[in-house]
Amino acid sequence: MKFENTATDTFFDTTAVLGKAHTRIDGPLKVSGQAPYAYERHDVVGGQLVGYPLGATIARGRIVSIDAEAARAAPGVTAIVTTLEIDPLGISSFNDVRLFGGDAIQHYHQAIAVVVADTLEHARHAANMIEVTYEEESGLFDMEEAWKGRDTSGDPDSETGNVDAGFADASVTLDATYRTPVQSHAMMEPHASVVDWSDGERMTVWTSNQMIAWNRKSLAQTFDIDPEKIRVESPYVGGGFGAKLFLRSDAVLAAIGSRAAGRPVKLALPRPFVFNNTTHRPATIQRIRLAAERDGRLTCIEHEGASHRTPHGSSEENPVSQTEVFYAAANRRVKHHELKLHLPESSSMRAPGEASGLMALEIAMDEMADKLGMDPVEFRILNDTQVDPQNPDIPFSDRHFVDCLRVGAETFGWCARNRSPGSTRDGMWLIGHGVAGAYRGAPTLKSGARVRLKKGRLIVETDMTDIGTGSYTIIAQTAAEMMGLTADTVDVRLGNSDFPVSSGSGGQFGAASSTAGVYAACLALRNKIAEELGSDDLRFEDGRVIAGNKAFPLADLFDGKEVCAEDSMDFGDSQKKFKIATFAAHFVEVGVHAATGTVRVRRMLAVCDAGRILNPVTARSQVIGGMTMALGAALSEELLVDTSRGYFVNHDLAGYEVPVHADVPQQDVIFLDTEDPEISPLKAKGVGELGICGVAAAIANAVHNATGIRIRDYPVTLDKLIGELPEI
Ligand code: MOS
Repeated sequence: MKFENTATDTFFDTTAVLGKAHTRIDGPLKVSGQAPYAYERHDVVGGQLVGYPLGATIARGRIVSIDAEAARAAPGVTAIVTTLEIDPLGISSFNDVRLFGGDAIQHYHQAIAVVVADTLEHARHAANMIEVTYEEESGLFDMEEAWKGRDTSGDPDSETGNVDAGFADASVTLDATYRTPVQSHAMMEPHASVVDWSDGERMTVWTSNQMIAWNRKSLAQTFDIDPEKIRVESPYVGGGFGAKLFLRSDAVLAAIGSRAAGRPVKLALPRPFVFNNTTHRPATIQRIRLAAERDGRLTCIEHEGASHRTPHGSSEENPVSQTEVFYAAANRRVKHHELKLHLPESSSMRAPGEASGLMALEIAMDEMADKLGMDPVEFRILNDTQVDPQNPDIPFSDRHFVDCLRVGAETFGWCARNRSPGSTRDGMWLIGHGVAGAYRGAPTLKSGARVRLKKGRLIVETDMTDIGTGSYTIIAQTAAEMMGLTADTVDVRLGNSDFPVSSGSGGQFGAASSTAGVYAACLALRNKIAEELGSDDLRFEDGRVIAGNKAFPLADLFDGKEVCAEDSMDFGDSQKKFKIATFAAHFVEVGVHAATGTVRVRRMLAVCDAGRILNPVTARSQVIGGMTMALGAALSEELLVDTSRGYFVNHDLAGYEVPVHADVPQQDVIFLDTEDPEISPLKAKGVGELGICGVAAAIANAVHNATGIRIRDYPVTLDKLIGELPEI
């Protein structure tokens, strides 16, 4: 079916199951170890061997020779395939660079061989025996250099009003440059796959991937085979954050190894491979200029930003896009530069664009409020907009950013904060409070599902994934709501290419899109039942279908015969007439140690505006996950680039520091829980990416409030503070 808007559809205005707190239905399976992740699919196919990758140790050039003689004779080895033995594989439409085959090296830790053996230890041992010689080429690895050499002559991405004149007339101005480093998704489960391609004909892939249909298409393009011959399963995913949107070398190497060995092969990327072999969030450099009247009204906003990608692809990390629409100002200009570096392939990571962009913009807003002598909450409220400031004819569908700020300030006790930096103490700790706004788009993608009702139980099948987000649960709730059932009478089956194609999980489009697809399938099922019963006025309630004055228990319907229906939700151009987005306000309290500069976040509050909340338990879990990830972005996460050799140096979880439980303080989340009539029949938007947006800036702003030190270069580490701390 096609979605227009919800004007004629009031089904979800009353809800029995949806919108209610429901713990995740896959929770017991997960905590008891019964939800099998890709590397644990021991029982799907017999005779599995173990694969281990070898990665290039140069960033750019070609392989002259690979000597795998000794490795082939090592204990337990069944097969070794080197990249020189294989014609260059195809590059799928979702990848920048070739994942295997040929002699060209395009980035450090590019896969150059796979060893297949009886055990992991044997495979790893043999991989270490392979000798490789290279012809190395120099490359561009330095973001600062690329930024200095950027082309500033081109047109802006967008411009409204007259920015130059606006700045010339301005009363108060700000011009500052901010930097965010390369970050890694660092999800718990590394990229892993079991692949059976023993006969070189049909390929079955048990993997860990966010997008089943894209994955299957990529495999077909990479190996130049018919997608009909490929089956992909990914029912449980141990975190993705964008790292598993696309096909990566784990599945490719396992497939090649399986074909060579004539047996199924399982392969997990060793943790150090994940950083350079797969994708990352690129660094950004962002120059922001703001101008305002003395009363605090912004007159100009200019945001020039840059991120990097390989010379072969286009950047996902556009840090300026939210600046086009977040705050009002008559004169505005944004420009994004895609800098080309010979580093590993950068790609999407949770809220690509906004996550980095708001790390800069929301410090700039704090700095401007300071210059104006205004409260940063009031400054943001004053500059709110209910329409797209570049196209005033296009309103936001449902925007309550001001309420987020007001409710947050009230709940957090914002008015009690000390406005003069560096003047609140708790023993040796300097205490500070910070606020930031958040904006994240709310896209939708076509999504389908199949539903089967039999003896009162409903089975839902869709290739949607649950990457730890709660998809199983909200899909069960949606189907239950539609059919008058309880969530525990619905069996949800996900992550299988045999099922109807869904939106998949990404871009925070999964919750809104996939539940709309399930809604469409359930409507089709209701229509089918109506036809069979010869009545077009049916209600589904309490496990019964009610037609006029007759009620039939679903458990007995049609003598236990299965009724099945399938449909999808096509969102068409429903996002064209309105700006559809999510908003939040973040408030944090930090302590900065007066002697060492150590930063501890002490309290965090998020107030979120994301339409109807489908399930407050899973939604909260998404937001606190995002807040925790942003805590890492603010204070510790940074992949360090070796700018002479072109690779990420700290490529393990000892050197790349993500927050642990002890780093995470009290976190509170409030949802405004409104209804967005333009997004989908469910009026609900995603929150998975909103939670990471703006938080890091709130922390940096709180550090400024605590110490008077303005850090514009993430992460905010103690070495950047220690020389500037106020006298004890
Ligand atoms: Mo998301 S970065 O599209 O998984």
